[in-house]
Amino acid sequence: MTQDHDHISFDGNDLPFSHRFEDHYYSRNDGRAECDHVFIQGNGIPERWVKAEHFVVGELGFGTGLNFLETWNQWCVHRDEDEHLTFVSVEGFPMGKEAAAKALARWTGLSKFSEPLLSHWNNLSRAMEIDAQTTLHVHHGEASEMLPNFPQVDAWYLDGFAPAKNPDMWSPELMKLVGEKTKPKGTFASYTAAGWVRRNLQEAGFEVEKRAGFGSKRDMIAGQKL
Ligand SMILES: C[S@@+](CC[C@H](N)C(=O)[O-])C[C@H]1O[C@@H](n2cnc3c(N)ncnc32)[C@H](O)[C@@H]1O
Repeated sequence: MTQDHDHISFDGNDLPFSHRFEDHYYSRNDGRAECDHVFIQGNGIPERWVKAEHFVVGELGFGTGLNFLETWNQWCVHRDEDEHLTFVSVEGFPMGKEAAAKALARWTGLSKFSEPLLSHWNNLSRAMEIDAQTTLHVHHGEASEMLPNFPQVDAWYLDGFAPAKNPDMWSPELMKLVGEKTKPKGTFASYTAAGWVRRNLQEAGFEVEKRAGFGSKRDMIAGQKL
């Protein structure tokens, strides 16, 4: 394992691991397929993009940007000319550009997207049109302090490391903010099915259902704002 100043190390397969949170950034099995299963399909995307004039994805935990890249990739395939996607995320411990480049190099099928992302890496905290139909804005700071600045969201990717390792990213207070920043009938998806996270989301106004998890995980959760 090699470790850099970001408290991140990479295993032999170039998978990033956070020593601050003692957790991997995404599935060791296939992070890109996990993103598709859990976050994209879990939120009923891309079907919900049909006739969506302006769709807003909100994310907790930007990390390497893999979820953004896979979403942007699928958006480019499914969007109509007059539609716009805003992807808004929060990151409290931004990864250095070198570490992000190392992590993203693995996803060769996404290289035409990772190149522009990396070229803007040090300016992601300013909202930018990364292409004519896609806005990216990564708020740098503590999630609970940054969420009040978010727009109303159609679909949430709750991706803040395992709840047992990082309870702050799943707290009742933060889930309440997520609920308040969700459009009517908006949705969320997450790889965790922990009972206390489900309850926090229910208390925040979501109907929560268990679904089949990705890879070796039996369950995940997804839901809609009532
Ligand atoms: C599982 S990783 C996200 C992976 C990411 N979505 C990707 O595509 O690579 C969780 C992220 O949440 C960030 N994070 C953890 N606690 C946080 C907090 N309280 N506020 C803001 N960000 C936080 C971590 O630094 C980490 O980048």
